[in-house]
Order: sequence, then C-alpha cells, then structure tokens
Amino acid sequence: MVVGTGYVGLTTGACLAGLGHRVTCVDVDQAKVARLSAGRVDILEPGLSELVSRGLTSGRLNFVVGARDAVRDAEAVFLCVPTPMGAGGSADLRAVEAVTTEIGDVIPAGCALITKSTVPVGTSKRIQAMLGRTDVPVVSNPEFLREGTAVEDFLGPDRIVVGSDDVAAARWVGDLYADLAAPVVVADAASAELVKYAANCFLAMKLSYVNSIAELCERLGADIDLVTEGMGYDRRIGRSFLKPGPGWGGSCLPKDTSALVRVAESVQYDFTLLTSAIEENLAQRDRIVAKIAGAVGGTLAGSRIGVLGLAFKAGTNDLRDSPALAVASVLGALGAELTAYDPAVGGQIAGMTVVDDPYQVAKAADAVVVLTEWDEFKRLDWTYMAEQMDGDSVVDTRNLLEPQRILDAGLSWQGVGRPRAALRRKVA
Ligand code: UGA
Repeated sequence: MVVGTGYVGLTTGACLAGLGHRVTCVDVDQAKVARLSAGRVDILEPGLSELVSRGLTSGRLNFVVGARDAVRDAEAVFLCVPTPMGAGGSADLRAVEAVTTEIGDVIPAGCALITKSTVPVGTSKRIQAMLGRTDVPVVSNPEFLREGTAVEDFLGPDRIVVGSDDVAAARWVGDLYADLAAPVVVADAASAELVKYAANCFLAMKLSYVNSIAELCERLGADIDLVTEGMGYDRRIGRSFLKPGPGWGGSCLPKDTSALVRVAESVQYDFTLLTSAIEENLAQRDRIVAKIAGAVGGTLAGSRIGVLGLAFKAGTNDLRDSPALAVASVLGALGAELTAYDPAVGGQIAGMTVVDDPYQVAKAADAVVVLTEWDEFKRLDWTYMAEQMDGDSVVDTRNLLEPQRILDAGLSWQGVGRPRAALRRKVA
C-alpha cells in the first residue's frame, strides 16, 4: 500500500506495480482518487501516465480512499505524504503522524511501515513509539526522485537506501527493488534518514558554490561554462549539478536545507556551512534582480519586462519555491510591468500577465529575461522577438541561449558568470 498520490507516491505506486507488485494507492482526496482510477494523471511527469494506465489495465494498481481498509492485507506500507516546512523551518510531520494514528492498530503483524517522505532523523523511532507495537517494523527508505525525471530515477536509481533498527525488515524492503540492479545500502534507521538530507543539502551547497564562482567569474572576467567544464572532469567533483542560475528552489532543496539546519540546532551544532549556502541562494536572487535592473537602465519602476519561464526548473509545472517566480515577484514589487510565459504554467498569477504565446512577452518589452531552462526558448525566432521589443536586452539567467543567435538578432545578451565583453569581441 502507498499512502499519498503526489509525485513521490504516485511514481512509487506506479513503478512498484510495473515491477510486478500488487499496489493500492491511497489518498484522502476523493476526486483525485476518482481521476486516477480513470487513468487521469494531473502531474507533469514523463512516462507516469503510461505506467498508471498499464498498472490499472493489469489490475496490479488501484486507487482508493481510506487507508484503514486498504491496509488490512498489506505486506508493506509506504508513507509518501507531504512533510512541508513547518514552524521555524523544521519538517512538519503532521501528515505522517496522522496516517500512523489512523492505521496503527489495523496494520497486520509483520507488515513493514516505510517512510519515503523526507523525515528528520529520529522519525522512525518516533513512529515506532507512536505505534506502540513491536510486530510492525518501521523502515526508512528515502527517495531520490527528481521532478520531471521521477519515473526514470525510480527505475534507474543510483542506489537504494533502506534503514531500520530491524535489519531483516530493512533487507526485505531492499529486496522489493531486486529487479532494479542498483546497489542497496542497508543501514540503521538514523543513518538512512540522514542520507536523504545529507545528499539534498550537498546538492544545494554545490549549487550555491557554483553560483558564487559564477559571481567571481563576472568580477574577474572569467567564463563559468569553461570553469565548470574544467572542474567537472575531476571525477571527485563530477560534471552534473554545476549550472549556475537564479538560485536553487523547488519543493525539496529549500525545505530540506532549512530542516537540516534545525536538526543540527537540536543537537547544539551550528551548521554554518549550510546556513551560508542558504544565504548565498538569497544573495544570488538579489544579484539576478540587480542584473535585470541594470539591463533596463537601472530603474525597474515603469519598465516592461518579458519573462520566459516560471516553473522552478524545466520539465515541470511546479511553482513551489520557484526561483523564477521569486525573481519575477521581486521585479513586479519594484514596479516592473511583467508579461510572462511558461510552456507548462497557465492561469492567473498575481502581479503579472501570463500569456500562452512566448512571442507575446517580447511585445514592447525593455528586456526579456529567461528564468527557467526550457529548451523551446532556444528555438524561438529571436529576430522576430527583437522586432517586437522596445529595448534590446536579453538576460539569460540559465545560460541557456546561444549568445551569438541573440547578438545576430540585434539584441544584447548577458548570462550568469559569463563575460559580456568576450561576446562583443566575437561579434566584431
Ligand atoms: C531534488 C533532488 O535532486 C532529488 O535527488 C531529490 O530526490 C528531490 O529533490 C527530493 O528530495 O524529492 P528536485 O527538487 O526535483 O530534486 O529538483 P533538482 O533537479 O534537484 O533541482 C533543484 C533546483 O536546483 C532547481 O531550482 C534547479 O533549477 C536548480 N539547479 C539544478 C541548478 O540551478 N543548476 C543545476 O545544475 C541543477
């Protein structure tokens, strides 16, 4: 049984069914359960709809409301409910606790209760205590899915981590993934719980570091693309997660970094390295806003800015803690008039006009700003964009576009951590 049908729960349920397990997905939202039972998936996640349909057709996947009934013949319960940022930055465990209370007395003996949601170290112990029974092993099995590639990440993981103070139960959960041929790290509960935070926070620090180096590049006249290429070939560093941008965001890194700082505080450790990474992320956002202000002559008030991209990264329609949305909101608050386009985001957003045609953002714009790295922005007809614009500034906060194409269209281009002067030389 999988509790929660967000992108983690639904991916877990559909992929486990794809691996041959019989899976019941439970959610409290009756309308959502009805939609999913009819094969309708709201989340933009490549391959997920197909897996859900296949699961439904094979009979190995079904969706229900009400965990109490569904749990009675379960061998494993995966908790995939939200653990948002709660008071003071620590993880809010109310959903996890509510499910535990709801099903605690009816879980069959021997059934493993597995936390997949990111939970602070010590949660397994807390759940075990809440259960008040020892015949239900609690296992931590953190997920490492990225939004937009969740199915691919689930079916081709770098590793599986399972942790419990009941080692046999941890191994049994690891065996559920036997077909995936990934290394399985069997750990105690606390270590497994910490792996997830340690990994996500490392990624966040890596990005803050890259954004800092990008800032140095701008000040020193170096090019971040070349610097990260040179760094990335070092296998100890690796080539991925080295792209500068408007800051890191999404539903995971911001909440997990704050939560680990709080966890560290709770054991009297001042995690300044991580605190600095969080502060640097906010500073990066400010620098991006300043760069955009510079591109419209220094004053945002009364300027017209076209925004390309609102989602927190390409391949998703998720706006949660989106740096793109945050930057746009600050621009709006400082008096810029915003027209925004994102291929996956529609509807109304306060402070801006959201359009469904990318060329409309250029209309009478003083500057066009790329905030999310959607590939389709590269393929725009930039000459046509230039004709629509009043000004000539393109600020590419993702270093996504081919600068020469922008210059050829008669526009100016500036990225992050890349010298503008070098581009001018190229054009001459
Ligand atoms: C992240 C982790 O990458 C997953 O391993 C983890 O399972 C997940 O959180 C989670 O805890 O559930 P996700 O939030 O989907 O995944 O997004 P990422 O792909 O990690 O991107 C996070 C942010 O970093 C985005 O704002 C993205 O634009 C930014 N980023 C990423 C960069 O600015 N540069 C890069 O090189 C990579």
